[in-house]
Amino acid sequence: MDFSNLAKQRCSVRGYEQKKVEESKIEDLLNAGRLAPTAANKQPQKILVLDKCESLAKVNKSANCHGAPLVMIVLADKETAWVRPFDKKSMVDIDGSIVADHIVMQAEDLGLSSCWITFFDPCILKEAFAIPDNLEPVAIITLGYSSVMKDAERHIRTRNPLESMVFYNQF
Ligand SMILES: Cc1cc2nc3c(=O)[nH]c(=O)nc-3n(C[C@H](O)[C@H](O)[C@H](O)COP(=O)(O)O)c2cc1C
Repeated sequence: MDFSNLAKQRCSVRGYEQKKVEESKIEDLLNAGRLAPTAANKQPQKILVLDKCESLAKVNKSANCHGAPLVMIVLADKETAWVRPFDKKSMVDIDGSIVADHIVMQAEDLGLSSCWITFFDPCILKEAFAIPDNLEPVAIITLGYSSVMKDAERHIRTRNPLESMVFYNQF
């Protein structure tokens, strides 16, 4: 699907069939995360794939994963991510977010649905999966086949108009 239609079609899905995601699709999702651009090509990303009942039960203790049969936790290494020298701003969250978005868009292209989750308790998550201190959990992505109707018109209703966000040459 071409990108503009993909972007129009994608929406957050909060209900999934209990059908397993095929191995080849999981591989495509992971490769999309691998190909994502990162600041100075530092590639600080790590992707924790949860596809077993026990792992999914654990992640659901720190966040509502809407019954997804597949969950990916996108993390980024604080010690590897590029830091802008002028103000010491780390790109760790930006890099992790781009990786997560690549996974989300790839999912849509594969006929899967997804939802970003950042409403999670990082302490519970870190403990549950023995996440090392240097890794920042950036996003949980729920993945699978949707069990709910997608609302194709929602962008028209829920997005602010371009005029409210775009400025040419000066504010
Ligand atoms: C950074 C980020 C964090 C989000 N966190 C959550 C979350 O914790 N739980 C949830 O249900 N949706 C979450 N979402 C989904 C947003 O609510 C959703 O993208 C937004 O309402 C627009 O709807 P759409 O994705 O269907 O276009 C998050 C989205 C983004 C981009």
